[in-house]
Amino acid sequence: MSRLKIGVFISGRGSNLQALIDAAADPAYPAEIAMVISNRPEAPGLERAARAGIARRVIAEPSRPGFAAAADAALRQAGVGLVALAGYMRILDGGFVAAWRDRLVNIHPSLLPAFPGLHAQRQALEAGVRFSGCTVHFVREAVDTGPIIAQAAVPVRGDDDEDRLSSRILQAEHRLYPFAVRLFAEGRLRVTGNRVAVSGAAAPEEAMLNPLDALASPPD
Ligand code: GRF
Repeated sequence: MSRLKIGVFISGRGSNLQALIDAAADPAYPAEIAMVISNRPEAPGLERAARAGIARRVIAEPSRPGFAAAADAALRQAGVGLVALAGYMRILDGGFVAAWRDRLVNIHPSLLPAFPGLHAQRQALEAGVRFSGCTVHFVREAVDTGPIIAQAAVPVRGDDDEDRLSSRILQAEHRLYPFAVRLFAEGRLRVTGNRVAVSGAAAPEEAMLNPLDALASPPD
């Protein structure tokens, strides 16, 4: 079986990268990580890539077009078919976003379109919502916008602070991202306007794509 090659962009810790590495360690998983690109040489996630024997590139290029050109060349040379942003903390060049349209995904720690941008968990606490969660979406030029692939809801508890809520959402992220990448790699996603249809999921099952229980056993 030939697996989809993915490129992962990071800036920091790389726990979502680790979740993807762990998923791809199963030979039956339909994607493999071909390359990790960081804009920061000190990003701890680079060490995770090194431990897994994955090719790493640091592109500490301050200009957006400069970063985009170098990243684009590296990704194409590695035969990458999907780029996954995993805690990549810079805004991407518009030309790059257009060139990788519908092959570029991001994970965000809220139920978008609520709470885009920085400190999404703090925003959720300040808004007093009872549920927050995480979203994997195709990337468009405006920050944290684009067609939603999958979401997972997480309860907000009365005694939560930002750290506690963030770590509960992060656990969901680590299940959601490999799940969403799997759907892409299986060719099951079709984007129409701002909506994503998931093929092979009948009506009741489709409604179950988001809650965490469904993520525990993704459809074969
Ligand atoms: C995650 O919360 C992700 O949703 C957001 O940045 C954080 C990255 O964490 N985009 P990590 O580097 O994957 O541990």
